[in-house]
Amino acid sequence: MGRGLDYLGKYRIIRMVRSGHTCQIYEAMDDFDHKKFAIKALVPEQRKNKEEIKALQHELAVAKDFDHDNVIEVYEIGTDGSVYFLVLELSPHPNLKLMIRNDFEMALYRAPTIIEQVFISLGYMNDQGWVHSDVKPDNFLVSNEGDIKLIDFAISEKIRTGFSRWFASKPRIQGTMSYMSPEQIRGEALMPQSDIYSAGILFYELLSRKLPYTGESSDELLRKHISGDIPDVRTHNPNVTEDCSELIKQMLAKKPENRPKSFKSILNSISRIRIFRAMPKDPLENKEQDGDE
Ligand SMILES: Nc1ncnc2c1ncn2[C@@H]1O[C@H](COP(=O)(O)OP(=O)(O)OP(=O)(O)O)[C@@H](O)[C@H]1O
Ligand SMILES: [Mg+2]
Repeated sequence: MGRGLDYLGKYRIIRMVRSGHTCQIYEAMDDFDHKKFAIKALVPEQRKNKEEIKALQHELAVAKDFDHDNVIEVYEIGTDGSVYFLVLELSPHPNLKLMIRNDFEMALYRAPTIIEQVFISLGYMNDQGWVHSDVKPDNFLVSNEGDIKLIDFAISEKIRTGFSRWFASKPRIQGTMSYMSPEQIRGEALMPQSDIYSAGILFYELLSRKLPYTGESSDELLRKHISGDIPDVRTHNPNVTEDCSELIKQMLAKKPENRPKSFKSILNSISRIRIFRAMPKDPLENKEQDGDE
């Protein structure tokens, strides 16, 4: 049997987890010790693209020293001939976007655990000196119990302090439009409050299955982030408390200085309020009851 496409370096490819426009994620095994890993490789058309190879190297540089239960571990860059790939801790769970889309009842039921762990993971990253810069449900893996792992550090940035903050002009603005803070849209230096804004959008979406800002065009969408009225999540989910809706609005403040100072302070606030007026029911329990009838 030859070592065909079923190997990348020493890693035997078991299956493809996901294929995107730049990267493919595989489940793989090191046959030597039978340990499983996730492999993030560039799609064939991008394998020679220096910028994309740099992004993989950057992702390793950002995450190699992280050590937290809510953050995926990134181990090394592997090579196979001229093909580079990232080797990561494998999670068996889908991303949070899929849970919101396919099992919204479960997402609501687990929302308190999910949102706490989302904030803990981002607070950890900020404390390590990094802004994630691409906070969105696709970049969190989630179990049915609501346990979270933060992933995708491809565009994370070192937090700038002092004078260097004023020299942040970006060659290109990166991020995902629906989740981008006003300062990210303007190409300004990012800070923990920028992740707080994007996490506010994620929180809104987790509770309502809707995005706070949408537009016919990207211009319209970006304009709403910068100057549109901040919507109330209770329009879509009246079971959310006023306190929680207010907290989300603070996270979505247009000016970073009007947002909460840190994820620690948000966790503090959230421990003192209720998210829901009535706690959502366990969807599995409902199903069992349905079956009995
Ligand atoms: N370590 C992992 N274990 C299991 N699944 C993973 C892992 N890392 C990523 N995935 C899955 O692959 C998807 C894409 O991963 P990631 O966000 O790192 O790539 P990306 O750079 O956003 O790729 P693209 O630009 O193609 O969207 C995730 O949303 C998740 O579903
Ligand atoms: Mg991603």
